[in-house]
Amino acid sequence: MAAREIADRVYSVGTIDWDLRYFDALMPTAWGSSYNAYLIKGSEKTALIDTCKPSDETDFITNLMRLEQHSLDYIVINHAEQDHSGLVPLLLEVYPGVKIVTNETCAGLLSVMHHFEEAENRFIIIGDRETLSLGDKTLKFYPSPWVHWPDTMFTEVVEDKVLFTTDFLGTHYAASALFQDDESSAYLEAAKRYYAAIMMPFRSSVQDHLKLIDEIAPKFICPGHGPVLSMPAKIIDLYRRWSSDKPQNLVVVAYVSMHGSTKFMTNFLVDDLVQRGIPVQQYNLLETDTGILGSAVVDAATIILATPTVIFGPHPVAVNTAYLIRTIRPKAKHLGVIGSYGWGTNAVDYLGEMLSPLGAEMLEPVYIKGLPEENAISALRAMADAIEERHKTL
Ligand SMILES: Cc1cc2nc3c(=O)[nH]c(=O)nc-3n(C[C@H](O)[C@H](O)[C@H](O)COP(=O)(O)O)c2cc1C
Ligand SMILES: [Fe+2]
Ligand SMILES: [Fe+2]
Repeated sequence: MAAREIADRVYSVGTIDWDLRYFDALMPTAWGSSYNAYLIKGSEKTALIDTCKPSDETDFITNLMRLEQHSLDYIVINHAEQDHSGLVPLLLEVYPGVKIVTNETCAGLLSVMHHFEEAENRFIIIGDRETLSLGDKTLKFYPSPWVHWPDTMFTEVVEDKVLFTTDFLGTHYAASALFQDDESSAYLEAAKRYYAAIMMPFRSSVQDHLKLIDEIAPKFICPGHGPVLSMPAKIIDLYRRWSSDKPQNLVVVAYVSMHGSTKFMTNFLVDDLVQRGIPVQQYNLLETDTGILGSAVVDAATIILATPTVIFGPHPVAVNTAYLIRTIRPKAKHLGVIGSYGWGTNAVDYLGEMLSPLGAEMLEPVYIKGLPEENAISALRAMADAIEERHKTL
């Protein structure tokens, strides 16, 4: 991606990966991503904010050369994860006088990630709200742990009210436009999937850092991935809703079925909820990628996992989903397990145990032998009653 100016002598110099379909070998990225880095030319000193992934070396150096950046004073590292710090070792060679500016935790992690202990004298360690002058521009640092690593940090260009937030408020969304497009439903969905996978596990920290951003009141927010937020209010409002403790009136039913019994139960429950006017989303786990599912559970008050028994336990994709849900920690208040088995099962206990760290209420399970009949139908109706009752008080 070409270097472009965001504010007076504040440039975007990162790279774009249109083809990326998985981030961290973990998170589907339907719209690709970008690895954002920024260059700030003060009247006396120049600072680079973050780098990008090692394989983008050529594009990145080309951007710096286009801006005639033949010397550099500081590299500010807001986060040691390799997608942002990947080119630090190269830049230490390219710019022999450059110093790395970061917080203590990040410095420790950078050394771990890159093993450049011999370069330790090249670190400048800063603390909360310390500043660094570039002449007519001042950098101010806000260590911001747990959005999403212990080392993460925000950096502000005080005079321009530009805030660099590394992974916080980012999006895996490759776009030629430098700035966000609030009208694009794809962009907003990408922002939600990113929040679900990367930030939702740290919801209370997200809430704290939204308050910090309110206090800083930046004009531009420049994250480490995706478009620059030129109108941050909309995404911040969404983050406020997503990270709040209050779930929405929504049931997500995620199912897998081998011979159709669990599918029948899923369809029945979903249909019953629809008839009661309760918003519900149904996902076949074999067809649904984890990005879509993660985004679906962000606001849901109730999540139902529907699985048959395979070798005494849940179907492996249901285990995978339970593990995902337990990891990304949605705020759902009620969970349920439904499904079918043949002769012996511990599927309900297994999933209940896996999901227990969420602290949500486990609804009475509906786990039946073979093909569902009258008993299963009335138990599913009772489950829908319980959901309806609980959703009235959300
Ligand atoms: C590969 C495989 C392994 C199974 N293992 C068990 C098991 O260990 N215990 C059990 O009770 N049923 C077991 N079953 C039977 C299914 O749980 C049962 O057929 C169930 O009704 C299938 O639900 P479905 O129609 O939603 O796929 C197994 C079935 C398959 C295909
Ligand atoms: Fe990260
Ligand atoms: Fe990142």
